[in-house]
Amino acid sequence: MDYGRLKADVDVLEKAENPAMQQVDPTTGLAVKERMLVQRTWKELMQLGRSNVGIELFHQYFTKYPQYVQHFKAFREVPSEKLKAHPRLKAHATTVVNAMDVIIDSLDDTGKS
Ligand code: HEM
Repeated sequence: MDYGRLKADVDVLEKAENPAMQQVDPTTGLAVKERMLVQRTWKELMQLGRSNVGIELFHQYFTKYPQYVQHFKAFREVPSEKLKAHPRLKAHATTVVNAMDVIIDSLDDTGKS
């Protein structure tokens, strides 16, 4: 992951004052520059691998809200230190990241029907 490049791109987007970049899409509620920031940072995350990103996402979620693991029948009995390696966690986490990838990729497809 090229953090230097990412930071440079994010800095440029954050500082962008061109009116076209401030235009808000009524469907997403995001300004053009916000949408580009989401898409740029997401693209960088995807370099780490979808299942890695998904597993880390759920790891942080369960670390913050340990009670929510109880909703997952497949691994609610699994001790927390073994959760990251559980195949059902990995499968669902990858499904979630795939869905997010489609959504984030479509953020600039609104209104095209
Ligand atoms: C948009 C993204 C998502 C998709 C496409 C999705 C899809 C699915 C699918 C297909 C299942 C059933 C099969 C399986 O266990 O893999 C499932 C189960 C489940 N999902 Fe998701 N999911 C998404 C996001 C989430 C999120 C963000 C959470 C919680 C924060 C969540 C919580 C659950 C739970 C608790 C179950 C298991 C229910 C049970 O064991 O009966 N899902 N999901």
